[in-house]
Order: sequence, then structure tokens, then C-alpha cells
Amino acid sequence: MSDTKYDFGLVGLGVMGRNFILNVASHGFSASGLDKDAEKVSALDKEAAADKFIAKGYATAKEFVASLKSPRVIMMLVPAGAPVDSVIADLSPLLDKGDLLIDGGNSFYTDTDRREKELSAKGLHFLGAGVSGGSKGARFGPSIMPGGPEEAYNIVKPIFEAVAAKVNGVPCVTYIGPKSAGNYVKMVHNGIEYGLMQLISEVYDVMKRGLGLSNDEMHQIFTKWNQGKLQSFLVEITSKIFAKKDDLTSGDLLDLIQDKGKQKGTGKWTSQNAMDLGVPIPTVDMAVNLREISSFKSDRVEAEKLYTVAAEKSSLDKQATIDLLEDALYFAYIISYAQGMSMLAQASVEYQYNLKLAEIAKIWRGGCIIRAGLLEDITQAYQENPALKNMLLSKAIAAKINQVQGSARKAVKLSVDYGIPTACLTASLTYFDAMRTARLPMNLIQAQRDCFGSHTYERTDREGVFHTEWE
Ligand code: 6PG
Repeated sequence: MSDTKYDFGLVGLGVMGRNFILNVASHGFSASGLDKDAEKVSALDKEAAADKFIAKGYATAKEFVASLKSPRVIMMLVPAGAPVDSVIADLSPLLDKGDLLIDGGNSFYTDTDRREKELSAKGLHFLGAGVSGGSKGARFGPSIMPGGPEEAYNIVKPIFEAVAAKVNGVPCVTYIGPKSAGNYVKMVHNGIEYGLMQLISEVYDVMKRGLGLSNDEMHQIFTKWNQGKLQSFLVEITSKIFAKKDDLTSGDLLDLIQDKGKQKGTGKWTSQNAMDLGVPIPTVDMAVNLREISSFKSDRVEAEKLYTVAAEKSSLDKQATIDLLEDALYFAYIISYAQGMSMLAQASVEYQYNLKLAEIAKIWRGGCIIRAGLLEDITQAYQENPALKNMLLSKAIAAKINQVQGSARKAVKLSVDYGIPTACLTASLTYFDAMRTARLPMNLIQAQRDCFGSHTYERTDREGVFHTEWE
């Protein structure tokens, strides 16, 4: 065994884990890794040697733990759920009081709360830190959302600040809050991610089936959009996806990919928890629904033969419709972030996370999957008013929405006429229309509830709770 003691340890040497270690090592910290798979261990050793980095892999927990400086800083990048508990069970007997374990996966927030309690009872620090940015982000700068005891965060702060993505020199990491705040914020990040991805795919559908655009044309449109108000990682990678040729045939790869959306669960968790909190996030809900609907492939194939929609597609003006879609997508982007941020505001109260929404928007500007130019405006809106209940109530955001809400309406109308499902775009518009309506028809629902079930109602003209014999 060598005498080198490493600054940072990482468990789980898949591509993400190895890249994170190389990122840490490239910033002058030494790092060791643990994986039961000997091939992954040697892959790390080779990659580190190629870059002359001080990093080494181990296949046993004992050697790995012994390789680390005290207090030990160990991050786990393993699949959420049982694998995290199993790594904790393997490592914790080998650790000393004051050592720090960090869960960098997409763990469910209540699991994080449980693990933190169990480990702090043993004198060990525990952080649940959401990490976003995929394998490239892990190597060259992710956005990191660490939650747990602040003194535990301070132990790893210099390393996290060094490896995180930078926007104008500012690292995309900040202390998020106590307990499971970090995993919770990452969950909502993923909910927003689901919404944005579905919105982009709806615009793609309208462009392809409504306008008959080619992949090459869409590549050019998305490349241009990424230089304007829609500048974002997801628009950028979409433009590249349109240009990708297939290795196995002469076609475009995108056209050969099966249309069934898969999911690992973070979007669903976001929707489920939003319902529990009583916070509406219909754009995320519909994004989850559409992945589910997509899985009913054989039913969809059968149903397509039973129903047709007659629409005059030729009447569309191509460039005007493309411009309309750009504005509509921008509108729905704003609404998606508004829903996510309002959920965070409510969760902060409910779970005592003490979230600083401006700081969260700020660390989402770089490194993560939902990074976008728009997050600069969102950061400013929350810096100006940290108590902002909903982004829609910011005058600066309202000015942006007012420029594009007309286009969102036209885009929804057009897709309805053509029978092209734009569930997230429509849900975003409906959320907006409901949120900007001072008096909704809930008076009638209250009357119905009281009529059939004596559930009582409140009145607009006097205090109290009332019941009426309606029939
Ligand atoms: C990220 C991503 C990452 C993962 C998604 C995929 O921020 O880097 O969100 O965490 O790619 O969780 O989720 P689905 O498999 O559910 O689409």
C-alpha cells in the first residue's frame, strides 16, 4: 500500500464517478476511488496516469478508507435507493468520528433525512448533494446542490467550489440548507428538466408534422434559437441531435430512435410531492404523463388507425410559425421555472429548509441540465425580492411574459387544430391564465360541494362559514 493520503474519496467508478475524480484531481486535490469492479478501478488508474493526476482506484473498502486523509471526505456516486444504504453499511464501520460522507446521487429526500440522523448518531457527518450536468459536467464542472449540516459542508467547500462550473468566475455551488434540502432542490431541478424536455419535443412535433421541416432545418433553427432568448443547454444539445447521422444506416439517428420515454423517477417524485404540498406544477405533471402515454406504443399504433384529424396544414406560413414557436417555447420556459421556484418556496416553509431562491437560480446558471440565459433574469427577480411568492408577480418577468403570451396562445391553437399533442405548452398556458385570473369559477364548485355534501362555503360579502339547503 502506498503512503500517499488522498484529499478526497469517491465511491462508484462509473463514467460519472471517474470523471468527477479527474475533475477533482485537475484542480490540485489528490483523490482515490472505490469500486468492486476491477475493470473500473484500472480504467481510473489509466485515465489518471494519462493526465498525470494524483488519483488511484481501490477495489476494497478497507484499502480505500485507509488511503484517505483525516477527516475523510467521501462522496458516493451510486444509484439511488438500496445501493446507497449498502455503501454506507460497508463504509461506516471503517470510518472515524468527524469523517464526512456525501451522497451525490438522486436520492429521495426522506432517505437523506433518515441517513443523516443515523450517521450523526455515530458521530459521522452526512451531506445529500445533488449533482447535475451528466458525465461531461462531472469532468468539466457540474452544478452542485449540497444540503445537510453547514459545518459538514464547510469541510468539502474548497473542493466543491474548485470543481463546480463557473459563471463569470462564480462557482455553481452553494450551501443549500439543512437536512435533505440539497436532494430536494435537485429533485425539483429534475422536475423542471422534465418539463423543458417535453416542451422542446412538442415544438419539434409541431415543426415536423405541422410544418414538415427537415432535421437539417430544425438543426439550423435550434442553433439560431440558442443564440437568442432561448439560450440553454437543452436547446443547444437538441440542435446537435438534429444533425447527428446514424452509424448503422444512411439516415439521421433521431428518426431511428424508438418513441418511448423512459424515466428513473425524479420527475414523478416532484409531481407527487407537489400534490402533497398543494403546489400546482402542471407542466411537470404533464411531462411525466406524456412519458407514460408514450410507453403505450401498441395502443397508440392501433388507435392511430381509428382516428384522423382534418387540418389545412398548407395554410401555415413557415417563418411566421417558426417565430411563433420560439416565443411560445420561451413563454413555457418561464412558466416552468415559475412553477419549480414556487414549489421550492413552499417546501422551504414546510420542511424548514430556509432556501435562498436567488442563490439556487444563480447556481443553476451553469453546469446543470436546466442552465439557461433566463436564469440570469430569475436570479435578479429573487435578488430584488427574496420573498417573491411566485415569479409571475415580478414586474420584470411580467414584462417578458407579456411580449410572448400571445404567441403561446396561437401555438396552442395551431397544435389543437392539427391534433398535435402539446400537453406541456397547453398546461403552461392554462397555469398562467389561471394564476392571472382574479376570480376563478371555484364559486360554482364550492356551491356544488355544499349542495351534494353540505361541505359549506365562504362568502365574498361577509365573514363566516355557510351552508344552504339548495333543493
Ligand atoms: C442531471 C440529470 C441526471 C439524470 C436524470 C435523468 O441533472 O444531470 O437530471 O440527474 O440524467 O435524472 O432522469 P430520467 O432518467 O428520469 O429522465
